[in-house]
Amino acid sequence: MKKFTIPLAFSVIALLVYIILMWTLPDWIYRDYLKYLYAAFWIGLGIAIVRAIGYVLFDVIFRKRKGREAPELLRVLVSIAGYSLIFAFLFTFVLEKDLAGIFATSAVVSLILGLALQETLGNFFAGISLHVEQPFHIGDAIRIETMIGKVEAVTWRTTTIRTNDNTLIIFPNSRVARDAVEIFPYNNLNRRILHIPAPYGVPPQTVIQLIKECIRTLPNLAPERAPVVRIGRFADSSIDYEVLYWVKDYMWTPDMDAKMRERVWYAFHRKGIQIPFPIRHVLMEQVGAAAGQEEDYAEIIRQVSIFEPLGDHEKEEVARSLVRYVYAPGEMILRSGDQGNSMFIVHRGRVEVQLPSDNGKPQQLAVLGPGDFFGEMALFTGEPRTADVSALEEVEVLEIRKPVIEKLFAENSGLAEALSSKIADRQAELAQYTRAMPEDEKMMKSRNILARVKRFFSLK
Ligand code: CMP
Repeated sequence: MKKFTIPLAFSVIALLVYIILMWTLPDWIYRDYLKYLYAAFWIGLGIAIVRAIGYVLFDVIFRKRKGREAPELLRVLVSIAGYSLIFAFLFTFVLEKDLAGIFATSAVVSLILGLALQETLGNFFAGISLHVEQPFHIGDAIRIETMIGKVEAVTWRTTTIRTNDNTLIIFPNSRVARDAVEIFPYNNLNRRILHIPAPYGVPPQTVIQLIKECIRTLPNLAPERAPVVRIGRFADSSIDYEVLYWVKDYMWTPDMDAKMRERVWYAFHRKGIQIPFPIRHVLMEQVGAAAGQEEDYAEIIRQVSIFEPLGDHEKEEVARSLVRYVYAPGEMILRSGDQGNSMFIVHRGRVEVQLPSDNGKPQQLAVLGPGDFFGEMALFTGEPRTADVSALEEVEVLEIRKPVIEKLFAENSGLAEALSSKIADRQAELAQYTRAMPEDEKMMKSRNILARVKRFFSLK
């Protein structure tokens, strides 16, 4: 209220003094000076009017329409326009001076001033557009070229940001308006991509799980979105993994990146994974199983039920022939209807056996884990694969190919019979998921399988 009452009171006092002096001073000589009192009356009244207009425009209409405070700069501009009008009115009508004359004589001065103020005026108008458009707010992070910081102030001439080094950078507004500005609004879901290299030799799912574990409890993550870890690219000496995470305050990202790298180092170290650096490897490929693996694999073969009929020497022969593969979750290992001349032992992880159906919803037949085998039907009978088999999680499987089985059958003719009965046993076991198979049916099945095996391997 004081904003209006003080200039109004000033104006009323000036008017009163003016009237009193008009009456009490008969001498017309002083009359000329009285016009300044009259001007004082108009000044007070003018200030009150300009303030009242500002109040109605910004505190009532603007606030009601936009639902926020009017920009300070806009208020200042309207005030300047109002006061200029009062100034012109006073000069022309109260003090009876020729305003046009004053401006005409100062044209050269104006030109010089205009040139000198070119830059400042540019900043001023850019400041106006920043205030009106409000592309960013105090507290947002912005990046101009390589400089990034949190917006601390936007004045009519400059925009100030505070960097993570706790230094201030002041941009003239004309530059903010002209250059590309990247804005990371505060409280927005700002995405950050961190690159982590890992060696080619480590399966992606192993690395992805490790990194996910590292990021799970990283401080300052936006809770609304779970981080994503994926392969970014195959680089020269490493696989480049991308860690996508979301953060409300972008200025935290250097700290969070650093924490992540530290955690990844420890996690990799625990698993014996080396963080790659640019090196050139000469790979000497070893044909057959690597030394040291044979023994492990022989132990695995000993525990697989289908190979029970094999002697120790034969088991070792199979173990030597094994080829190891790693599959990612969801990858299909066998597709029903395909031809195939190998079977697999699950070494690590779980696989799902499914029967595809016309309605697109496959029927699950079994879930197999370490020590289980699959793909034996096509290997031993030469018939197409009977089901789809896919990895439920990261899976390591060991493949047994037809040549080694052929060799075994050639050396031991009784083996085909023993293996066929094992396959029939397993089929009966699998069939029990749906119904119990009587002993005589099992026997028939075994004979049937044996006939198919003998035909396929050309055995008598
Ligand atoms: P194959 O037919 O060579 O390829 C698909 C494999 O899925 C098959 O060998 C079996 O090893 C396996 N399989 C087929 N049916 C079943 C079932 N009902 N339960 C478990 N495994 C099965």
